[in-house]
Amino acid sequence: MDGLSEHDARLQVRGGRPLEGEVVLSGAKNSALKLLAASLLTADPCVIRRVPRITDVATMVTMLRALGADASDEGDAVRVEAGGRLSGCAPYELVRTMRASIIVMGPLVARLGEATIAMPGGCNIGPRRIDFHIRGLEKLGARIDIEHGFIRVHSDGLKGAVVPLDYPSVGATENLVMAATAAEGETVIENAAREPEIMDLCAFLRGMGAEIEGAGSSTIHVAGGRSLHGVDHTVIADRIEAGTYLIMGAATGGRVTTIGLDPAHLELFLAKLQAMGVQVEEAEDRITVTRDGPLAPVDISTLPHPGFATDLQAQTMVLLSLAEGTSIITENVFENRFVVVDELNRLGAGIETSGHHAVIAGPRQLSGTVVEAPDLRGGAALVAAGLVADGVTEVRSVYHVDRGYEDLTGKLCALGADVTRWEEDPRTGPPEDASLLTCEDEAVRGA
Ligand code: UD1
Repeated sequence: MDGLSEHDARLQVRGGRPLEGEVVLSGAKNSALKLLAASLLTADPCVIRRVPRITDVATMVTMLRALGADASDEGDAVRVEAGGRLSGCAPYELVRTMRASIIVMGPLVARLGEATIAMPGGCNIGPRRIDFHIRGLEKLGARIDIEHGFIRVHSDGLKGAVVPLDYPSVGATENLVMAATAAEGETVIENAAREPEIMDLCAFLRGMGAEIEGAGSSTIHVAGGRSLHGVDHTVIADRIEAGTYLIMGAATGGRVTTIGLDPAHLELFLAKLQAMGVQVEEAEDRITVTRDGPLAPVDISTLPHPGFATDLQAQTMVLLSLAEGTSIITENVFENRFVVVDELNRLGAGIETSGHHAVIAGPRQLSGTVVEAPDLRGGAALVAAGLVADGVTEVRSVYHVDRGYEDLTGKLCALGADVTRWEEDPRTGPPEDASLLTCEDEAVRGA
């Protein structure tokens, strides 16, 4: 996990080439992060396979080490051993870098009876509260204090309880499932999140010896107090990465196949692509999109799974800007999730927002310019826009995209895209000739 660039990088995308070929998907970011945290629940070694090489994973590995666990790379796997003395304190610098760090709260309380977590910062997409995590842990008998910017959680022994969530929060469901593995008696989480990553986490915990039923439904039962041991587990494929490449394939009028994902994880998304006029073929772990005709407008509302994933909203907006007619996207999951719209409009997307609605009046011919990635998924949307824009699009602040997409440049080049990445050398600033790095250079560096 070491060696990921800490300084800024930019992508130059020359638009107009249809993407053609297959993409082998990486492991899901939003699962791998939680499985790494769940390894804190046992002193035995845990081996997690198909862990994506992304900066969020590197941050979580740093967090595990800061808490006293050993974490090492083994090929595409990470081995975590939390057998020594653990600290219960998640430092500000790490939680600030990645809000998902709060996921260590549940495992630490379960293992140590206490956790001190810096209040999160994270993605630039709204306030991202953690009240459901806190209220849920209180239901399990934990005491919570918030002072000096830290949340302190104490427990003299968690007790199973019925925990109704106001909203099916992914992170709260995960923290509570992990905490409940150490609670005495049964915990029932009602209105639980149903994301595939929750199912993956529960499969991981069951592999460790936990008794959990109902993962993937709205009611999860955890019979606490079982002794947990090590596990060897392969992360599910990243459905958001898959959706991003499928959008890029459809937008460029090419033919893209993703390999490794169960199409059921993207059911509603694929239905929307078909409603737009994209041809979708599904096989066991393959999804292929092709497009030879015009795109039709559709309306989309983001919702918790199995609704339309908010993490694919920005990228879908690019596709809809090419559609012949007006589409409306309603963002129901996060506030401020239209932060990329201003940048997309600089490329000519002509999107108007009002509150949590975005009106996309297509079709638009996008034209390349310099744009700034505002966050992870917004950054991916700008790259997708660059692939269909006239001329060259330069996407800056690519470090946002590196948080969640493993080898984006390499995978795009393999699909025939004209994408060049260059890193800014912090000692000398931007290189004068930004076109020095080519796809071939990427292949050499990746070898
Ligand atoms: C996870 C994903 C993120 C995805 C999101 C929704 C990870 C690392 N991140 O984020 O990529 O976009 O699910 O699918 O897995 N909320 C509260 N109080 C809480 C918790 C959440 O009000 O205690 C609100 C949030 O502010 C947000 C909404 O609920 O508006 C959804 O949040 P949640 O499902 O918890 O998302 P995350 O787990 O943060």
